[in-house]
Amino acid sequence: MSTVAVVPGSFDPVTLGHLDVIERAAGLFDEVHVVVVHNPGKAALFPIAQRVTLLEQSLSQAKIAGDVVVTSWSVGLLVDYCTDVGATVLVKGVRSQVDVTYETPMAIVNRNLAGIETVFLLPDPAHAHVSSSLVRQVASLGGDVSPYVPAAVADYLAKTELP
Ligand code: PNS
Repeated sequence: MSTVAVVPGSFDPVTLGHLDVIERAAGLFDEVHVVVVHNPGKAALFPIAQRVTLLEQSLSQAKIAGDVVVTSWSVGLLVDYCTDVGATVLVKGVRSQVDVTYETPMAIVNRNLAGIETVFLLPDPAHAHVSSSLVRQVASLGGDVSPYVPAAVADYLAKTELP
C-alpha cells in the first residue's frame, strides 16, 4: 500500500529549508503533496497563488526526485484535505526546540481530529537559521536573500517591489 504524505505550510515564500524538508519527505513517502495553507495567525506577504507558483518553479529547478505535487488549501481543516486525498501523514520540518514546541499541539490535535500522524524531520543544520519571516524582512529592506531561498524566489523578489 502506498503512503501519501502532506507537507503543509505558509511558504511565504518557500526557503531552502523548506526545499530540504520536501526532498527528505519525497525520499520517504510514495506521494507527497506540498500544500500552501492560509495561516490565520500570520499576515501573509504573497498571495497564495504566487506562493504555489514559486514552489512549483523551485521544485522544478531543484529536480527533486519522487512523486511531488503542489497545491493550496484555504477552506476548512488541513486534515480534511488529507482525508480527501488519502494522506495519512503530515510532515513538518523542525529546526529547533522552539519549532517542536510550536508544532506539538497541532500534531496532537490533527491526530485527535482524523488519526493523521505527524512526522517531524530535521533539516540540514545549514538551514537552521532560515525562516520565511527573516527572508521577507531582509528582502523588504533591500538585502540579498539569495543564500536562503531557491533561485526562482530570489529572482522574483529582486524584480518585485515589496511593502
Ligand atoms: O508555515 P506555517 O505558517 O508554520 O504553517 C502552519 C500551518 C498552515 C500548517 C497550520 O497553521 C495549519 O495546519 N493550518 C490549517 C488549519 C487547521 O487545520 N487547524 C487545526 C489543526 S492545527
